[in-house]
Amino acid sequence: MLAFLLIVVVSFSAIARLLTGLVGDSLFAEKTRAEQRTVESLATRLSDIMADMDGRALYTAVQQAGSQLGGRLLVLDTDGKVQADSFSAYNGMRLQLAEVISILQDGKSVDYGFHLLPGGGARQRPSWLDVLGYRDLSQVWVGYFTAAMQADGRPLGVLLYSSQVQDMVDSMTALRDEMTLYFLVAALGVVLLSLLVSRWITKPIAALTKGIEQTTKGDFTSRVRVSGGGEMARLAETYNLMSERLENLDNSRNQFVSNASHELKTPLATMKILLESLIYQEDMDPALRREFMQDINKEIDRLNMVIGDLLTLVHIDSHKMKLRREMMTLSTSVKEAVRRLAPLASDRGQEIEVALHDPCEMFADPAKLQQVMYNLVDNAIKYTPDGGRVRITLERMGRDAVLKIADTGVGIPKEDLPHVFQRFYRVDKARSRETGGTGLGLSIVQQIVRLHGGSIDVESDQGKGTTFILQLPVK
Ligand SMILES: Nc1ncnc2c1ncn2[C@@H]1O[C@H](COP(=O)(O)OP(=O)(O)O)[C@@H](O)[C@H]1O
Ligand SMILES: [Mg+2]
Repeated sequence: MLAFLLIVVVSFSAIARLLTGLVGDSLFAEKTRAEQRTVESLATRLSDIMADMDGRALYTAVQQAGSQLGGRLLVLDTDGKVQADSFSAYNGMRLQLAEVISILQDGKSVDYGFHLLPGGGARQRPSWLDVLGYRDLSQVWVGYFTAAMQADGRPLGVLLYSSQVQDMVDSMTALRDEMTLYFLVAALGVVLLSLLVSRWITKPIAALTKGIEQTTKGDFTSRVRVSGGGEMARLAETYNLMSERLENLDNSRNQFVSNASHELKTPLATMKILLESLIYQEDMDPALRREFMQDINKEIDRLNMVIGDLLTLVHIDSHKMKLRREMMTLSTSVKEAVRRLAPLASDRGQEIEVALHDPCEMFADPAKLQQVMYNLVDNAIKYTPDGGRVRITLERMGRDAVLKIADTGVGIPKEDLPHVFQRFYRVDKARSRETGGTGLGLSIVQQIVRLHGGSIDVESDQGKGTTFILQLPVK
Protein backbone atom coordinates (compact mmCIF):
# COMPACT_ATOMS: atom_id res chain seq x y z
CA MET A 1 0.00 0.00 0.00
CA LEU A 2 2.81 2.39 0.96
CA ALA A 3 4.66 1.49 -2.23
CA PHE A 4 1.57 2.25 -4.26
CA LEU A 5 1.21 5.63 -2.53
CA LEU A 6 4.84 6.46 -3.21
CA ILE A 7 4.55 5.52 -6.87
CA VAL A 8 1.51 7.73 -7.34
CA VAL A 9 3.05 10.76 -5.63
CA VAL A 10 6.41 10.40 -7.34
CA SER A 11 4.94 9.90 -10.80
CA PHE A 12 2.57 12.83 -10.40
CA SER A 13 5.29 15.20 -9.27
CA ALA A 14 7.50 13.99 -12.12
CA ILE A 15 4.76 14.87 -14.58
CA ALA A 16 4.38 18.30 -12.92
CA ARG A 17 8.12 18.87 -13.27
CA LEU A 18 8.18 17.83 -16.88
CA LEU A 19 5.24 20.07 -17.79
CA THR A 20 6.63 23.16 -16.05
CA GLY A 21 10.01 22.44 -17.63
CA LEU A 22 8.47 22.34 -21.10
CA VAL A 23 6.44 25.50 -20.57
CA GLY A 24 9.41 27.30 -19.01
CA ASP A 25 11.72 26.31 -21.87
CA SER A 26 9.39 27.59 -24.54
CA LEU A 27 8.80 30.84 -22.61
CA PHE A 28 12.52 31.35 -22.23
CA ALA A 29 13.20 30.56 -25.85
CA GLU A 30 10.59 33.05 -26.99
CA LYS A 31 11.83 35.78 -24.66
CA THR A 32 15.37 35.14 -25.79
CA ARG A 33 14.48 35.39 -29.45
CA ALA A 34 12.55 38.63 -28.91
CA GLU A 35 15.31 40.24 -26.90
CA GLN A 36 17.88 39.12 -29.41
CA ARG A 37 15.99 40.67 -32.28
CA THR A 38 15.68 43.94 -30.35
CA VAL A 39 19.38 44.02 -29.54
CA GLU A 40 20.32 43.16 -33.08
CA SER A 41 18.28 45.96 -34.66
CA LEU A 42 19.44 48.34 -31.95
CA ALA A 43 23.04 47.39 -32.65
CA THR A 44 22.62 48.24 -36.32
CA ARG A 45 21.11 51.61 -35.44
CA LEU A 46 23.74 52.47 -32.83
CA SER A 47 26.56 51.36 -35.09
CA ASP A 48 25.91 54.33 -37.33
CA ILE A 49 26.12 56.74 -34.41
CA MET A 50 29.24 55.05 -33.10
CA ALA A 51 30.88 55.23 -36.49
CA ASP A 52 30.58 59.01 -36.29
CA MET A 53 32.77 58.88 -33.16
CA ASP A 54 30.39 61.22 -31.36
CA GLY A 55 30.56 60.17 -27.71
CA ARG A 56 27.78 62.43 -26.50
CA ALA A 57 25.35 61.47 -29.23
CA LEU A 58 26.09 57.79 -28.56
CA TYR A 59 25.49 58.17 -24.83
CA THR A 60 22.18 60.00 -25.38
CA ALA A 61 21.01 57.39 -27.84
CA VAL A 62 22.03 54.56 -25.49
CA GLN A 63 20.29 56.20 -22.55
CA GLN A 64 17.12 56.79 -24.53
CA ALA A 65 16.99 53.27 -25.91
CA GLY A 66 17.81 51.81 -22.47
CA SER A 67 14.98 53.61 -20.71
CA GLN A 68 12.65 52.61 -23.54
CA LEU A 69 13.54 48.96 -23.15
CA GLY A 70 13.46 49.10 -19.37
CA GLY A 71 16.91 47.57 -19.10
CA ARG A 72 20.56 48.54 -19.12
CA LEU A 73 22.35 49.15 -22.39
CA LEU A 74 26.11 49.25 -22.77
CA VAL A 75 28.24 49.87 -25.81
CA LEU A 76 31.69 48.31 -25.72
CA ASP A 77 34.52 48.91 -28.15
CA THR A 78 36.58 46.18 -29.76
CA ASP A 79 38.77 45.98 -26.65
CA GLY A 80 35.78 45.31 -24.48
CA LYS A 81 35.95 48.71 -22.89
CA VAL A 82 32.67 50.44 -22.06
CA GLN A 83 32.09 53.43 -24.30
CA ALA A 84 28.59 54.21 -23.16
CA ASP A 85 26.49 52.93 -20.26
CA SER A 86 22.83 53.90 -20.01
CA PHE A 87 23.29 53.76 -16.22
CA SER A 88 26.54 55.77 -16.66
CA ALA A 89 28.39 53.72 -14.08
CA TYR A 90 30.74 51.44 -16.04
CA ASN A 91 32.12 54.02 -18.48
CA GLY A 92 35.69 53.18 -19.38
CA MET A 93 35.67 49.80 -17.65
CA ARG A 94 36.59 46.58 -19.36
CA LEU A 95 33.93 43.91 -19.12
CA GLN A 96 35.16 40.35 -19.46
CA LEU A 97 31.79 38.71 -20.04
CA ALA A 98 31.55 35.44 -21.90
CA GLU A 99 28.85 36.87 -24.15
CA VAL A 100 31.13 39.77 -25.09
CA ILE A 101 34.22 37.66 -25.62
CA SER A 102 32.35 35.28 -27.86
CA ILE A 103 31.60 38.16 -30.22
CA LEU A 104 34.92 39.98 -30.05
CA GLN A 105 37.11 36.90 -30.27
CA ASP A 106 35.00 34.10 -31.75
CA GLY A 107 33.36 36.28 -34.36
CA LYS A 108 29.76 35.55 -33.37
CA SER A 109 27.23 38.15 -34.36
CA VAL A 110 24.84 37.61 -31.46
CA ASP A 111 24.96 35.84 -28.13
CA TYR A 112 23.15 35.63 -24.85
CA GLY A 113 23.43 34.11 -21.38
CA PHE A 114 21.60 34.05 -18.10
CA HIS A 115 23.25 34.76 -14.80
CA LEU A 116 22.31 34.62 -11.17
CA LEU A 117 23.62 37.83 -9.68
CA PRO A 118 23.52 39.21 -6.17
CA GLY A 119 20.77 41.76 -5.63
CA GLY A 120 16.97 41.70 -5.83
CA GLY A 121 15.99 40.97 -2.24
CA ALA A 122 12.65 42.38 -1.07
CA ARG A 123 11.47 43.03 -4.60
CA GLN A 124 10.86 39.36 -5.18
CA ARG A 125 7.68 37.58 -4.36
CA PRO A 126 8.54 34.60 -2.18
CA SER A 127 7.13 31.26 -3.21
CA TRP A 128 5.67 28.80 -0.76
CA LEU A 129 8.24 26.30 -1.91
CA ASP A 130 11.00 28.71 -0.78
CA VAL A 131 10.07 27.87 2.77
CA LEU A 132 11.71 24.52 2.07
CA GLY A 133 14.93 26.37 1.27
CA TYR A 134 14.28 26.03 -2.40
CA ARG A 135 15.61 29.39 -3.58
CA ASP A 136 18.04 32.02 -2.43
CA LEU A 137 16.08 35.27 -2.21
CA SER A 138 19.14 37.48 -2.16
CA GLN A 139 19.97 36.68 -5.79
CA VAL A 140 18.39 37.73 -9.01
CA TRP A 141 18.31 36.32 -12.53
CA VAL A 142 19.70 38.58 -15.25
CA GLY A 143 19.95 37.95 -18.99
CA TYR A 144 22.86 39.32 -21.09
CA PHE A 145 22.09 39.81 -24.75
CA THR A 146 24.90 40.89 -27.00
CA ALA A 147 25.14 41.83 -30.66
CA ALA A 148 28.10 42.80 -32.79
CA MET A 149 28.33 46.42 -33.93
CA GLN A 150 29.97 47.12 -37.21
CA ALA A 151 30.19 49.63 -40.01
CA ASP A 152 31.01 48.60 -43.58
CA GLY A 153 32.09 45.17 -42.41
CA ARG A 154 34.54 46.66 -39.90
CA PRO A 155 33.91 45.63 -36.28
CA LEU A 156 33.21 48.56 -34.01
CA GLY A 157 32.36 46.82 -30.78
CA VAL A 158 29.55 45.11 -28.94
CA LEU A 159 26.14 46.20 -27.77
CA LEU A 160 25.29 44.62 -24.45
CA TYR A 161 21.77 44.59 -23.16
CA SER A 162 21.32 43.49 -19.61
CA SER A 163 17.71 42.62 -18.93
CA GLN A 164 15.96 41.52 -15.78
CA VAL A 165 14.42 38.08 -16.33
CA GLN A 166 13.50 37.69 -12.68
CA ASP A 167 9.84 38.46 -13.42
CA MET A 168 9.70 35.60 -15.82
CA VAL A 169 11.55 33.31 -13.44
CA ASP A 170 9.13 34.36 -10.72
CA SER A 171 6.08 33.67 -12.82
CA MET A 172 7.56 30.32 -13.76
CA THR A 173 8.22 29.56 -10.17
CA ALA A 174 4.65 30.48 -9.41
CA LEU A 175 3.48 28.28 -12.27
CA ARG A 176 5.61 25.43 -11.02
CA ASP A 177 4.28 25.88 -7.51
CA GLU A 178 0.73 25.94 -8.71
CA MET A 179 1.21 22.89 -10.88
CA THR A 180 2.91 21.03 -8.08
CA LEU A 181 0.03 21.91 -5.79
CA TYR A 182 -2.59 20.78 -8.31
CA PHE A 183 -0.77 17.57 -9.00
CA LEU A 184 -0.33 16.87 -5.32
CA VAL A 185 -4.07 17.37 -4.82
CA ALA A 186 -4.77 15.13 -7.80
CA ALA A 187 -2.38 12.48 -6.47
CA LEU A 188 -4.08 12.63 -3.10
CA GLY A 189 -7.44 12.25 -4.82
CA VAL A 190 -6.25 9.25 -6.78
CA VAL A 191 -4.85 7.63 -3.65
CA LEU A 192 -8.03 8.24 -1.70
CA LEU A 193 -10.22 7.01 -4.52
CA SER A 194 -8.21 3.84 -5.03
CA LEU A 195 -8.24 3.22 -1.29
CA LEU A 196 -12.00 3.55 -1.28
CA VAL A 197 -12.45 1.34 -4.32
CA SER A 198 -10.16 -1.34 -2.99
CA ARG A 199 -11.98 -1.23 0.34
CA TRP A 200 -15.26 -1.53 -1.48
CA ILE A 201 -13.97 -4.58 -3.33
CA THR A 202 -12.28 -6.28 -0.41
CA LYS A 203 -14.96 -5.58 2.19
CA PRO A 204 -17.24 -8.48 1.26
CA ILE A 205 -14.23 -10.79 0.99
CA ALA A 206 -13.08 -9.73 4.45
CA ALA A 207 -16.57 -10.38 5.84
CA LEU A 208 -16.64 -13.79 4.21
CA THR A 209 -13.21 -14.65 5.54
CA LYS A 210 -14.35 -13.72 9.03
CA GLY A 211 -17.41 -15.90 8.64
CA ILE A 212 -15.38 -18.87 7.43
CA GLU A 213 -12.98 -18.41 10.33
CA GLN A 214 -15.93 -18.60 12.70
CA THR A 215 -17.22 -21.69 10.92
CA THR A 216 -13.88 -23.45 11.21
CA LYS A 217 -13.96 -22.72 14.92
CA GLY A 218 -17.23 -24.64 15.10
CA ASP A 219 -19.60 -21.70 15.31
CA PHE A 220 -22.17 -22.17 12.55
CA THR A 221 -24.35 -19.16 13.40
CA SER A 222 -22.43 -16.63 11.31
CA ARG A 223 -24.02 -15.23 8.15
CA VAL A 224 -22.69 -12.62 5.77
CA ARG A 225 -24.63 -9.80 4.14
CA VAL A 226 -25.62 -10.48 0.54
CA SER A 227 -25.51 -7.21 -1.39
CA GLY A 228 -25.82 -6.47 -5.08
CA GLY A 229 -25.50 -9.12 -7.73
CA GLY A 230 -22.64 -10.90 -9.39
CA GLU A 231 -20.27 -13.60 -8.29
CA MET A 232 -19.54 -12.04 -4.90
CA ALA A 233 -23.21 -12.05 -3.94
CA ARG A 234 -23.57 -15.63 -5.14
CA LEU A 235 -20.58 -16.65 -3.07
CA ALA A 236 -22.09 -14.96 -0.02
CA GLU A 237 -25.41 -16.68 -0.68
CA THR A 238 -23.75 -20.07 -1.02
CA TYR A 239 -21.80 -19.49 2.14
CA ASN A 240 -24.97 -18.59 4.06
CA LEU A 241 -26.71 -21.68 2.73
CA MET A 242 -23.78 -23.84 3.76
CA SER A 243 -23.73 -22.28 7.24
CA GLU A 244 -27.43 -22.91 7.61
CA ARG A 245 -27.02 -26.55 6.62
CA LEU A 246 -24.10 -26.97 8.98
CA GLU A 247 -26.06 -25.35 11.78
CA ASN A 248 -29.03 -27.63 11.18
CA LEU A 249 -26.76 -30.64 11.01
CA ASP A 250 -25.05 -29.61 14.20
CA ASN A 251 -28.36 -29.12 15.98
CA SER A 252 -29.81 -32.42 14.80
CA ARG A 253 -26.63 -34.23 15.78
CA ASN A 254 -26.80 -32.77 19.28
CA GLN A 255 -30.48 -33.66 19.42
CA PHE A 256 -29.70 -37.18 18.29
CA VAL A 257 -26.99 -37.67 20.88
CA SER A 258 -29.19 -36.38 23.68
CA ASN A 259 -32.13 -38.52 22.52
CA ALA A 260 -29.96 -41.59 22.24
CA SER A 261 -28.49 -41.04 25.70
CA HIS A 262 -31.94 -40.61 27.13
CA GLU A 263 -33.14 -43.76 25.38
CA LEU A 264 -30.25 -45.72 26.89
CA LYS A 265 -30.62 -44.19 30.34
CA THR A 266 -34.25 -45.15 30.85
CA PRO A 267 -33.77 -48.93 30.76
CA LEU A 268 -30.60 -48.60 32.81
CA ALA A 269 -32.43 -46.66 35.51
CA THR A 270 -35.22 -49.21 35.60
CA MET A 271 -32.72 -52.03 35.84
CA LYS A 272 -30.88 -50.31 38.67
CA ILE A 273 -34.04 -49.99 40.75
CA LEU A 274 -34.96 -53.62 40.13
CA LEU A 275 -31.45 -54.81 40.94
CA GLU A 276 -31.25 -52.75 44.12
CA SER A 277 -34.53 -54.27 45.30
CA LEU A 278 -33.10 -57.71 44.65
CA ILE A 279 -29.89 -56.88 46.49
CA TYR A 280 -31.33 -55.21 49.59
CA GLN A 281 -34.54 -57.22 50.09
CA GLU A 282 -33.14 -60.58 51.00
CA ASP A 283 -36.41 -61.99 52.25
CA MET A 284 -38.16 -61.29 48.95
CA ASP A 285 -40.90 -63.57 47.79
CA PRO A 286 -39.40 -65.98 45.19
CA ALA A 287 -42.22 -65.32 42.75
CA LEU A 288 -41.65 -61.55 42.94
CA ARG A 289 -37.92 -62.13 42.67
CA ARG A 290 -38.49 -64.10 39.50
CA GLU A 291 -40.73 -61.38 38.09
CA PHE A 292 -38.05 -58.73 38.76
CA MET A 293 -35.46 -60.85 37.03
CA GLN A 294 -37.74 -61.20 34.01
CA ASP A 295 -38.20 -57.42 33.96
CA ILE A 296 -34.47 -56.91 33.99
CA ASN A 297 -34.17 -59.36 31.13
CA LYS A 298 -36.78 -57.40 29.17
CA GLU A 299 -34.91 -54.14 29.75
CA ILE A 300 -31.74 -55.75 28.47
CA ASP A 301 -33.63 -56.82 25.35
CA ARG A 302 -34.79 -53.24 24.98
CA LEU A 303 -31.29 -51.88 25.33
CA ASN A 304 -30.15 -54.36 22.73
CA MET A 305 -32.83 -53.22 20.37
CA VAL A 306 -32.07 -49.53 20.79
CA ILE A 307 -28.35 -50.11 20.34
CA GLY A 308 -29.02 -52.32 17.31
CA ASP A 309 -31.18 -49.64 15.69
CA LEU A 310 -28.64 -46.94 16.54
CA LEU A 311 -25.85 -48.94 14.98
CA THR A 312 -27.93 -49.46 11.85
CA LEU A 313 -28.52 -45.71 11.57
CA VAL A 314 -24.88 -44.85 12.17
CA HIS A 315 -24.01 -47.38 9.51
CA ILE A 316 -26.35 -45.70 7.04
CA ASP A 317 -25.21 -42.19 8.01
CA SER A 318 -21.57 -42.96 7.49
CA HIS A 319 -22.44 -44.22 3.99
CA LYS A 320 -20.95 -47.56 4.90
CA MET A 321 -24.19 -49.39 4.32
CA LYS A 322 -24.07 -51.07 0.94
CA LEU A 323 -27.03 -52.80 -0.63
CA ARG A 324 -26.56 -56.43 -1.50
CA ARG A 325 -28.72 -56.46 -4.55
CA GLU A 326 -29.91 -59.64 -6.23
CA MET A 327 -32.87 -60.68 -8.30
CA MET A 328 -35.73 -61.11 -5.86
CA THR A 329 -39.52 -61.20 -5.69
CA LEU A 330 -41.01 -58.49 -3.52
CA SER A 331 -44.25 -60.45 -2.99
CA THR A 332 -42.21 -63.19 -1.32
CA SER A 333 -40.69 -60.71 1.13
CA VAL A 334 -44.16 -59.44 1.98
CA LYS A 335 -45.42 -62.98 2.58
CA GLU A 336 -42.40 -63.73 4.76
CA ALA A 337 -42.91 -60.63 6.95
CA VAL A 338 -46.60 -61.46 7.33
CA ARG A 339 -45.76 -65.04 8.24
CA ARG A 340 -43.39 -63.88 10.98
CA LEU A 341 -45.82 -61.36 12.42
CA ALA A 342 -48.96 -63.48 12.09
CA PRO A 343 -48.73 -64.81 15.68
CA LEU A 344 -48.61 -61.23 17.03
CA ALA A 345 -51.71 -60.29 15.04
CA SER A 346 -53.66 -63.34 16.01
CA ASP A 347 -52.75 -62.71 19.67
CA ARG A 348 -54.59 -59.45 19.35
CA GLY A 349 -57.44 -60.86 17.35
CA GLN A 350 -56.44 -58.87 14.28
CA GLU A 351 -56.90 -59.91 10.71
CA ILE A 352 -54.18 -59.44 8.09
CA GLU A 353 -55.43 -59.18 4.53
CA VAL A 354 -52.91 -59.64 1.76
CA ALA A 355 -53.62 -58.81 -1.87
CA LEU A 356 -50.59 -59.34 -4.11
CA HIS A 357 -51.56 -58.35 -7.65
CA ASP A 358 -48.05 -58.65 -9.04
CA PRO A 359 -45.01 -60.61 -7.84
CA CYS A 360 -42.80 -57.57 -8.54
CA GLU A 361 -39.54 -59.13 -9.54
CA MET A 362 -36.75 -56.68 -8.88
CA PHE A 363 -33.04 -56.24 -8.37
CA ALA A 364 -32.77 -55.26 -4.71
CA ASP A 365 -31.47 -56.17 -1.27
CA PRO A 366 -33.94 -58.78 0.08
CA ALA A 367 -32.73 -58.66 3.71
CA LYS A 368 -33.09 -54.88 3.95
CA LEU A 369 -36.50 -54.85 2.27
CA GLN A 370 -37.54 -57.65 4.62
CA GLN A 371 -36.62 -55.30 7.49
CA VAL A 372 -38.71 -52.52 5.91
CA MET A 373 -41.72 -54.76 5.53
CA TYR A 374 -41.35 -56.12 9.03
CA ASN A 375 -41.17 -52.63 10.57
CA LEU A 376 -44.19 -51.32 8.71
CA VAL A 377 -46.39 -54.35 9.40
CA ASP A 378 -45.19 -54.42 13.01
CA ASN A 379 -46.22 -50.76 13.39
CA ALA A 380 -49.60 -51.42 11.80
CA ILE A 381 -50.28 -54.21 14.27
CA LYS A 382 -48.91 -52.29 17.26
CA TYR A 383 -50.89 -49.12 16.64
CA THR A 384 -54.15 -50.88 15.87
CA PRO A 385 -56.45 -51.95 18.68
CA ASP A 386 -57.43 -55.56 19.26
CA GLY A 387 -59.77 -56.93 16.64
CA GLY A 388 -58.64 -54.42 14.04
CA ARG A 389 -57.56 -55.09 10.50
CA VAL A 390 -54.36 -54.69 8.50
CA ARG A 391 -54.57 -54.68 4.74
CA ILE A 392 -51.51 -55.10 2.52
CA THR A 393 -51.63 -54.60 -1.24
CA LEU A 394 -48.85 -54.90 -3.77
CA GLU A 395 -49.16 -53.89 -7.41
CA ARG A 396 -47.09 -52.62 -10.28
CA MET A 397 -47.56 -49.15 -11.61
CA GLY A 398 -45.36 -48.45 -14.57
CA ARG A 399 -41.76 -48.82 -13.51
CA ASP A 400 -42.63 -48.92 -9.80
CA ALA A 401 -43.74 -51.50 -7.34
CA VAL A 402 -46.33 -49.91 -5.07
CA LEU A 403 -46.91 -51.40 -1.65
CA LYS A 404 -49.64 -50.14 0.65
CA ILE A 405 -49.96 -51.10 4.29
CA ALA A 406 -53.23 -49.82 5.71
CA ASP A 407 -54.59 -50.35 9.20
CA THR A 408 -57.72 -49.47 11.11
CA GLY A 409 -55.71 -48.20 14.07
CA VAL A 410 -55.33 -45.09 16.21
CA GLY A 411 -54.05 -42.99 13.36
CA ILE A 412 -51.57 -40.12 13.51
CA PRO A 413 -52.59 -36.52 14.26
CA LYS A 414 -52.08 -34.15 11.34
CA GLU A 415 -49.45 -32.07 13.14
CA ASP A 416 -47.36 -35.18 13.83
CA LEU A 417 -47.50 -36.57 10.29
CA PRO A 418 -44.47 -34.67 8.92
CA HIS A 419 -42.33 -35.84 11.84
CA VAL A 420 -42.94 -39.58 12.08
CA PHE A 421 -39.86 -40.35 9.97
CA GLN A 422 -37.63 -38.37 12.32
CA ARG A 423 -35.35 -40.23 14.67
CA PHE A 424 -36.88 -40.98 18.08
CA TYR A 425 -40.09 -39.25 17.11
CA ARG A 426 -43.09 -40.93 18.69
CA VAL A 427 -46.61 -39.64 18.81
CA ASP A 428 -47.33 -41.43 22.06
CA LYS A 429 -44.13 -42.08 23.99
CA ALA A 430 -45.67 -44.33 26.65
CA ARG A 431 -47.48 -46.48 24.11
CA SER A 432 -44.41 -46.87 21.94
CA ARG A 433 -42.25 -47.91 24.88
CA GLU A 434 -44.90 -50.27 26.11
CA THR A 435 -44.94 -52.01 22.75
CA GLY A 436 -41.16 -52.20 22.62
CA GLY A 437 -40.63 -49.45 20.09
CA THR A 438 -37.48 -47.38 19.84
CA GLY A 439 -38.79 -44.55 17.71
CA LEU A 440 -36.10 -45.35 15.14
CA GLY A 441 -38.02 -47.88 13.03
CA LEU A 442 -39.53 -45.48 10.48
CA SER A 443 -36.35 -43.48 9.99
CA ILE A 444 -34.48 -46.70 9.24
CA VAL A 445 -37.26 -47.70 6.85
CA GLN A 446 -37.05 -44.37 5.07
CA GLN A 447 -33.28 -44.58 4.69
CA ILE A 448 -33.40 -48.08 3.24
CA VAL A 449 -36.14 -47.10 0.79
CA ARG A 450 -34.10 -44.07 -0.31
CA LEU A 451 -31.03 -46.23 -0.80
CA HIS A 452 -33.13 -48.27 -3.22
CA GLY A 453 -34.13 -45.12 -5.04
CA GLY A 454 -37.72 -45.32 -3.82
CA SER A 455 -39.97 -43.17 -1.65
CA ILE A 456 -42.31 -43.57 1.29
CA ASP A 457 -45.41 -41.57 2.19
CA VAL A 458 -47.95 -41.68 4.94
CA GLU A 459 -51.64 -40.82 5.05
CA SER A 460 -53.66 -40.94 8.21
CA ASP A 461 -57.06 -40.21 9.68
CA GLN A 462 -56.86 -39.84 13.39
CA GLY A 463 -58.90 -42.53 15.11
CA LYS A 464 -59.67 -44.28 11.82
CA GLY A 465 -56.39 -45.63 10.56
CA THR A 466 -53.11 -45.09 8.79
CA THR A 467 -51.75 -46.02 5.35
CA PHE A 468 -48.06 -46.20 4.47
CA ILE A 469 -47.40 -46.09 0.73
CA LEU A 470 -44.13 -47.43 -0.55
CA GLN A 471 -42.80 -46.92 -4.07
CA LEU A 472 -39.81 -48.93 -5.24
CA PRO A 473 -38.38 -48.86 -8.74
CA VAL A 474 -38.41 -52.26 -10.39
CA LYS A 475 -35.10 -52.68 -12.14
N1 LIG B 1 -49.39 -47.59 11.63
C1 LIG B 1 -49.29 -46.58 12.50
N2 LIG B 1 -50.39 -46.08 13.11
C2 LIG B 1 -50.31 -45.06 13.98
N3 LIG B 1 -49.13 -44.46 14.34
C3 LIG B 1 -48.02 -44.95 13.80
C4 LIG B 1 -48.02 -46.01 12.86
N4 LIG B 1 -46.74 -46.26 12.50
C5 LIG B 1 -45.98 -45.37 13.17
N5 LIG B 1 -46.73 -44.58 13.96
C6 LIG B 1 -46.25 -43.49 14.82
O1 LIG B 1 -44.98 -43.14 14.39
C7 LIG B 1 -44.05 -43.26 15.47
C8 LIG B 1 -42.71 -43.67 14.91
O2 LIG B 1 -42.71 -45.00 14.46
P1 LIG B 1 -41.40 -45.86 14.58
O3 LIG B 1 -40.33 -45.07 13.99
O4 LIG B 1 -41.66 -47.19 13.97
O5 LIG B 1 -41.17 -45.94 16.12
P2 LIG B 1 -41.72 -46.96 17.18
O6 LIG B 1 -40.52 -47.58 17.72
O7 LIG B 1 -42.43 -46.09 18.16
O8 LIG B 1 -42.60 -47.89 16.45
C9 LIG B 1 -44.63 -44.23 16.39
O9 LIG B 1 -44.21 -44.00 17.71
C10 LIG B 1 -46.12 -43.92 16.26
O10 LIG B 1 -46.47 -42.87 17.10
MG1 LIG C 1 -41.85 -49.17 14.83
